[in-house]
Amino acid sequence: MFASQLLTLAIFIESQHCAHCHSIGLTGTSPHPDTPLFRTLSRRYPIEGLAEALAEGLSVGNPEMPEFVFEADDVRAILADLKSIQESSSSRANQKNKKANPTPPRHRARVN
Ligand code: HEC
Repeated sequence: MFASQLLTLAIFIESQHCAHCHSIGLTGTSPHPDTPLFRTLSRRYPIEGLAEALAEGLSVGNPEMPEFVFEADDVRAILADLKSIQESSSSRANQKNKKANPTPPRHRARVN
């Protein structure tokens, strides 16, 4: 799969399964209280570290979050997307969007 397809897939999955609790974008707050923003997950651990959890059952030990199991392609997609939105100085998306685009149209901007 091409990178742009991966990100399209990730955004589809995340908007279906994650976005009603987590903020999945470059800006915005999580709809569900105490739910980590996707763009800050790498403050806790490397994004790669989520690969196994996503493939074998992501359960965060919090009863409010359902357990998910994803196919390999879906895992690659979600990881690629999470990496691209992290708020670190090395994040491509961050550098690109910081000045030009204070509001999120990240989803629309990504899908060509
Ligand atoms: C029903 C609400 C809900 C949904 C839907 C949800 N989450 Fe969560 N998620 C949470 C909550 C609440 C936490 C905080 C858990 C804690 O720190 O106690 C969390 C935490 C996490 C964490 C951090 C785990 C950690 O150990 O720091 C990751 C990663 C995560 N969610 C990924 C996802 C992904 C990927 C999806 C969609 C496939 C998703 N979540 C869908 C509620 C949700």
